[in-house]
Amino acid sequence: MFPKEVYIKRRNELKRRLGKGMVFLPGNHESPMNYAANQYPFRQDSTFLYYFGIDEPDRAGIIDIDNNNDIIYGNEADLEDIIWMGNLKSLEEISKQAGIGEVKPHHALETDINKAVAEGREIHFLPAYRADIKDELSWLFGKNTKEINSFASVGLIRAVVAQRSVKDAYEIAEMENTMTTVTAPFYHETMRQCVAGKFEYEMAGLMEGMALKNNCSMAYPVICSVNGQILHNHYHGNKMNDGDLLLIDAGAESPLHYATDITRTIPVSGKFTNRQKNIYQLVLKALNESINMIKPGVKYRQVHLNAARIITEGLKDLGLMKGNTDDALANGAHAMFFPHGLGHMIGLDVHDMENLGENYVGYDDSTIRSDQFGIQYLRLAKELKEGYTLTVEPGIYFIPALIEKWKSDHHLSEFYNFEKIYEYIDFGGVRIEDNVLVTAEGRKVLGTPVAKTTDDIENIMKR
Ligand code: GLY
Ligand code: MN
Ligand code: MN
Repeated sequence: MFPKEVYIKRRNELKRRLGKGMVFLPGNHESPMNYAANQYPFRQDSTFLYYFGIDEPDRAGIIDIDNNNDIIYGNEADLEDIIWMGNLKSLEEISKQAGIGEVKPHHALETDINKAVAEGREIHFLPAYRADIKDELSWLFGKNTKEINSFASVGLIRAVVAQRSVKDAYEIAEMENTMTTVTAPFYHETMRQCVAGKFEYEMAGLMEGMALKNNCSMAYPVICSVNGQILHNHYHGNKMNDGDLLLIDAGAESPLHYATDITRTIPVSGKFTNRQKNIYQLVLKALNESINMIKPGVKYRQVHLNAARIITEGLKDLGLMKGNTDDALANGAHAMFFPHGLGHMIGLDVHDMENLGENYVGYDDSTIRSDQFGIQYLRLAKELKEGYTLTVEPGIYFIPALIEKWKSDHHLSEFYNFEKIYEYIDFGGVRIEDNVLVTAEGRKVLGTPVAKTTDDIENIMKR
C-alpha cells in the first residue's frame, strides 16, 4: 500500500468534490473458475484500491461525507479461515494502514445503508461490472438487478474520473518501475528468444513467467500473434516461420495493480524485409510524431487525426492509397488500415476506468464521439492535462475480410489502389505502443525505452 496519507487525501478530495451524502464502494469478491473453491486470481476493484488500498476480497467501504467518517465493512478471519488460509492480518490493522479508524462486520452494511435510505440521504455508487456486485447493490437498494446500473451516480463517476485521471508521484513511480524492471526486460528477452520453429505460446509464456517471477501479474491477456491484423487475438497456437511478423501486445501489472501496455512488432527471422520495413517505419513515424504532439491543452483527437494523416500520406507514397489526403481523412478512408483509436488512459486499469463509461473518461462536453468507422473506436479524444497517463498505439493492418468487403461495396474506392493492396493481403499487421505521461512542459515516455527502431530490434535479435 502507499502511505496512509495518500488514501486520506484522496477520500478528502472526493468529499470536497461531492459536497454531501455518502459514497458506497463495494470491493470485489473471489470469482470461481470451475467450482466455488477453485478461483481466478483475485483482482480487487480499481476504484476501491484507489480510495482504500485494501487488496482483499469481501470488503466494502463507505465514505460518509455528511459525518466526515470513513468505514470499512468486512469480517475478521475466523478459525476456519486461519486453518485454511493461515494467520491473516487483521482487517483493523490493514484499515489503519489506509487511515481508517472504523471497521464494522459485514452484516452492519445492510443496517447502515437501510438507515441512510430511510433518512433520505443521497447514496452514491458506481455502475457495477460484475454480476455478484450487481446482485449486492440490487439487494441493498431494493432495485432490479438488470436496472441497477441506471441508478449509479453520475456525480460520483465524474468525481472519480477527475481524480483518477491525474496521477500522483507514487502512481507514476509504480508504473515507471514496472516498465523498467519487468515489461521492458520481458520484451527484450522475447526478442532474443524469438526464432522460427518456436510457437507463439512459448513467447507468451516467457513474458508471463517473467512477470510472475517479479511479483507482478499481467495487466490483460497477452496478444502474441503472427496474425497481427486480428486486433484482439488471444490465440497462441501458431508455429512462427521466417518471414512472419510477430505482433506482441503485453504489459505487466505492478504489485499495487498499476498497468503497463506495450506493443512491439518484430520479424521472426530477426531481419525485417523491405516491405515490412516500409510499413513499420510508417507506423513508427506516426508513433514518434504523436508522442511529440502530446502536451497539456492538446485534444487527443487531434493527435489521432494527425497519426491518421501520416499513415494516409505514407500509404499514398507506397502506392496503396490515392486521392486527396484531406478528403480521405474526412471520409475515414485510412480506417481500412488503421481501424482503431490512437490510445487510451492507463492506470489502475489498462483501459483506465473503462467500467465507468468511456464517454466520461475519454470525452467531455466539447468533445463528442464521432460515429464514423475507425474514429468511433477512439477511447480518448478530449483535451489532455498534466498528470494524465495514456497510451499511443498507431497501427497498420491488412484485414482481408475488410478489404474484400470495401472493395466489393465500392466503398470509398477512389482512395484505394486495390491491385497494390492485394500484394500485401497476407502481410498481417504492425502496431507499436508506448505509455506516456503528460507533463507541464510536454510529455515523458514511461520507463526504460523498449527497443523500437528497426535497427535496435534487429541488433537485439542478432543470432
Ligand atoms: N492491450 C490492449 C490495448 O492496447 O488497448
Ligand atoms: Mn496494448
Ligand atoms: Mn493499449
